[in-house]
Amino acid sequence: MTYLVTGGAGFIGANFVKYMLAKYSDIQIIILDSLTYAGNLGTLSEELKEARVKFVKGDICDSIVTDKIFSENTIDYVVNFAAESHVDRSIENPQIFLQTNILGTQNLLDTAKKYWTTGKDDNNYPIWKEGVKYLQVSTDEVYGSLGDEGYFTETTPLDPSSPYSAAKTGGDLIVKAYGETYKMPINITRCSNNYGPYHFPEKLIPLIIRNILEGKKLPVYGDGSNVRDWLYVEDHCKAIDIVVNKGRIYEVYNIGGHNEKKNIDIVKLVISTIHDIMEKEPQYRSVLKKKELLSDGTIDISWMNNDLITFVKDRQGHDQRYAIDPAKISTELGWIPETMFDKGIVKTIRWYLDNQEWVEEVTSGNYMKYYDQMY
Ligand code: NAD
Ligand code: DAU
Repeated sequence: MTYLVTGGAGFIGANFVKYMLAKYSDIQIIILDSLTYAGNLGTLSEELKEARVKFVKGDICDSIVTDKIFSENTIDYVVNFAAESHVDRSIENPQIFLQTNILGTQNLLDTAKKYWTTGKDDNNYPIWKEGVKYLQVSTDEVYGSLGDEGYFTETTPLDPSSPYSAAKTGGDLIVKAYGETYKMPINITRCSNNYGPYHFPEKLIPLIIRNILEGKKLPVYGDGSNVRDWLYVEDHCKAIDIVVNKGRIYEVYNIGGHNEKKNIDIVKLVISTIHDIMEKEPQYRSVLKKKELLSDGTIDISWMNNDLITFVKDRQGHDQRYAIDPAKISTELGWIPETMFDKGIVKTIRWYLDNQEWVEEVTSGNYMKYYDQMY
């Protein structure tokens, strides 16, 4: 089987590539990524050495690029991760979000349709090649915001709040339309907030980790009471694999871990977890930028406490609460989240402590300009 993985140099896409290569020895992966600020080939340095992995630098909106990929390769599955993914950036500059998340999706669908259809049936519907599928990786943000109660199910009305989520909703709707109008074999998955290795430090958890290591203030929007439903990235990758291979075509599957946390609690947990690791394993203190020595010669970490938290202006249109009901994917396809949050967060923090070179690499360039504008 050959997978076209778009956005494979980003956070979840790269984790998916790693997961699939480790799980299956008989698949090929073509990665299409335009390497925006969020894409990083260093993340895939080992994978790119493999003969069964090809990388194409290109834009999902560019039909010349996508046509070339389909004409030169027999693609069985498209898994579309490519997107502008950060809500705060979408508030500043919506246009690129509409471009990539809607028009890029439509271009991928059109290219796949061109190469995956062999004619028309009596009712004028395209005849599709056996076994092919297009999977759109989407988000719980398309459902908008919840109050204190309730969960998003697959039938919750779409009600996006930000330019990012509106653009993702547009992408979902065009995918659904190709399923309805052309009988294209599609699935849409809608996942809650992911965390784990290779997460770009503009997003809450990796930003907080990085700021602690730099000895900087930790910006919490509003009063920190907003709730997100966190899922370890590998569990998301497993769910996507299951939906590609077993999901009923035309269906939407929600993915989430029943793991709701307030932002303020996440930030406090990250502080205390880093503190605990550095208390028990003082060698990790060398990662800190702030290296004040105590009289016994060890690096001081007494400043690493909740006083680092600073409440800043709220995000415009900030959704209050997300929470996914994953009953459909669990009962129909047997997927369950395997990584408990207390284990996953420690694994994630340790990964960042051990991979500071990766953080340095992705935060060189324009990152600081963005950071200084935001905070
Ligand atoms: P990311 O920003 O880390 O990565 C996006 C990748 O897409 C980058 O490698 C970037 O270079 C690439 N890209 C952007 N525009 C492109 C274009 N026009 N052509 C080709 N490549 C392009 O995002 P992520 O967090 O890995 O999210 C991946 C997908 O999963 C997105 O579609 C997002 O909406 C969805 N999602 C994310 C989360 C989450 O918590 N991060 C949760 C649910 C769904
Ligand atoms: O729910 C899925 C979505 O999760 C994905 O579709 C998005 O691509 C992904 O970016 C993520 O969106 P969020 O807006 O929820 O993630 P972010 O990490 O930006 O913010 C998480 C929460 O933390 C949110 O309530 C805003 C808050 N926040 C964020 C940052 C960056 C802060 O309080 N301070 C910060 O500095």
